[in-house]
Amino acid sequence: MKKQIALIAAMSENRVIGLHNRLPWHLPADWEHFRRTTSGAPFIMGRKSYETADALLSDYKNVIISNSENLALCSHCKQAHSVAEALQLLADEPLVFILGGAQVFEQTIHLADLMYLTIVHHQFDGDAFFPEVNWAEWELLKQDNHPTDERHAYAFSINVYKRIA
Ligand SMILES: NC(=O)c1ccc[n+]([C@@H]2O[C@H](COP(=O)([O-])OP(=O)(O)OC[C@H]3O[C@@H](n4cnc5c(N)ncnc54)[C@H](OP(=O)(O)O)[C@@H]3O)[C@@H](O)[C@H]2O)c1
Repeated sequence: MKKQIALIAAMSENRVIGLHNRLPWHLPADWEHFRRTTSGAPFIMGRKSYETADALLSDYKNVIISNSENLALCSHCKQAHSVAEALQLLADEPLVFILGGAQVFEQTIHLADLMYLTIVHHQFDGDAFFPEVNWAEWELLKQDNHPTDERHAYAFSINVYKRIA
C-alpha cells in the first residue's frame, strides 16, 4: 500500500500558524483531536517547531529536519537534513504526519495525501503562515464545528481533506 503523508495544522482565517515561535491560541479540544488523530504514528517537523514551548512529540518516532550540527535530540528522535531524507528514514511507515512549521509545510504540501486542518475563526497577527491551498485539489471528508465556550476563546472547525488531484 502506498505511504500516506498527512499534514496536520491549525491556522487562523488569515493563515497564521504561529507568532514568536508560539501558537497564538489555546484550544484544548484541538489538542485532544491532535492526540487522538496522531496516536502511534511517526512525526516529521522542522527544527524551530521542535524547539518551541508548544512542541508535540510522538511517543513512537520523530524526525527533526535541521542542518544544525549540535541539535539536542530527545529519545525517539532522529535528525534529517532535508524533507527527502526525513521521508526516507520513515520509508517503511504506512502513515506519516507532518507537523510543520511554516517552512516545512511550504516544502511538503505538494506531497500530502491528507490534510487535518483546524481553522480558527479569527484573524491573528503572526509571523508563520500555512501555505496557500489550491482548494480545487482537495475534497472535504469531515468537518466538526466547535463554538466558543468556557475553555475555548475562539470558535474553530476541525477539517479533514483528501487530495483529489
Ligand atoms: N499552528 C500549527 O499547526 C503549527 C504547527 C507547527 C508549528 N507552528 C508554528 O510555526 C512556527 C515555526 O515555523 P517556522 O517556519 O519558523 O520553522 P519550522 O518549519 O518549524 O523549522 C524551520 C527549520 O527547519 C529546518 N529546515 C526546514 N527545511 C529544511 C531543509 N529543506 N533542509 C534542512 N533544514 C530544513 C531548518 O533548521 P536549522 O535552522 O536548524 O537548519 C529551519 O530553520 C512557530 O511559531 C510554531 O509555533 C504552528
